[in-house]
Amino acid sequence: MKSIKSVDICCGLAWGDEAKGKIVTELIKTYKYDWVCRWSGGSNAGHTIYINNNKFFSNIVPSGVFYNKKSYIGPQCYVSLIDLDNEMKYLHENGFNISNIKLSPYVHIVFNSHKDDDNKQYKGSQGSTGKGIAPCAKDKYGRIGRRLNDILTDNNYFKLLKFFDRKVNVMTEPLYGDILCEGAQGFWLDIDHGNYPYVTSSITLPYSACSLGFPPQKIKNIYGAAKIYDTRVGVDPDFDDKLLNDEDLNKIALIGNEFGTVTGRGRKVNWLNLEKLIDAINISGTNVVIISKTDVLKKLGKFKLSDNTTFENLENMKTYIKNELLSSCSLLVKVIFSDSPSSVVFY
Ligand code: IMP
Ligand code: MG
Repeated sequence: MKSIKSVDICCGLAWGDEAKGKIVTELIKTYKYDWVCRWSGGSNAGHTIYINNNKFFSNIVPSGVFYNKKSYIGPQCYVSLIDLDNEMKYLHENGFNISNIKLSPYVHIVFNSHKDDDNKQYKGSQGSTGKGIAPCAKDKYGRIGRRLNDILTDNNYFKLLKFFDRKVNVMTEPLYGDILCEGAQGFWLDIDHGNYPYVTSSITLPYSACSLGFPPQKIKNIYGAAKIYDTRVGVDPDFDDKLLNDEDLNKIALIGNEFGTVTGRGRKVNWLNLEKLIDAINISGTNVVIISKTDVLKKLGKFKLSDNTTFENLENMKTYIKNELLSSCSLLVKVIFSDSPSSVVFY
């Protein structure tokens, strides 16, 4: 029988948009995984991947599909079949093998009514993505939701779909081999650890990846993704509107191209809150942290943390962050900085 050998997890340590897609790409290229999996979220997430300088996107489909890997969407995900079908169309038309995409029969289905409710109830007050996540979660935990399993034999749900195939795209075997789990959103958007109710309706912490069907003992590495400054899209009182009037932070937004991939909205920017990053690393169990976008501060020519600690140059800032993290986070063994939008060097 094929069994699970080992599991690596890539998770966000901030408010999403920490360049997880880039890290996952590099992991897939560097190590041999049998499966690349998504354990949480839905079409509210947006992953950007570069292949030979070409930019590709996915929302719900794990990035393994770009590298011809089997890609599993686990039972904690919220799936709009219409959005998935559109995404599969895009992937197929760009030459990727969509028969590798497998869904748990237990994913909860996001219906149009969920999206309508999201737009009415959550979009304005909370800045949700309008993808129907909270209303679908409400039905799930109220135990009146509908799962893929429940609708599989009802042709009405599938007649409009052109790419999703019930015979091909539903998971029928257990996971096996070496597995990479790709996080969606980030630590401070977690339903329990975030600034509730300004959170998403998923568990974004890596322990939740076990919902895919493996025991925690199989987890080998937890790669945590962060940026050298903080960003927040959507409503959150922890990110004051005054931030929008700060000249340096506005420059960071422009240089760093901080606009949401799902909604196109501008992201609020703040200097890095190192204390929060330390908490996120310690609670998530991150052993390798990747801090991206150092080039943005270099272009700006200013080096600062949210507690107003300032540095002469980027190298001093990096050394300070590295020392602080390694001395405050007992499980952390490696701090990697990245200055490239498309790749990260793992040694
Ligand atoms: P929802 O997940 O659409 O319900 O949105 C809830 C909150 O999470 C809002 O503040 C969103 O802006 C934020 N959010 C959801 N998904 C992402 C993401 O992938 N990146 C960044 N923020 C996100
Ligand atoms: Mg994203």
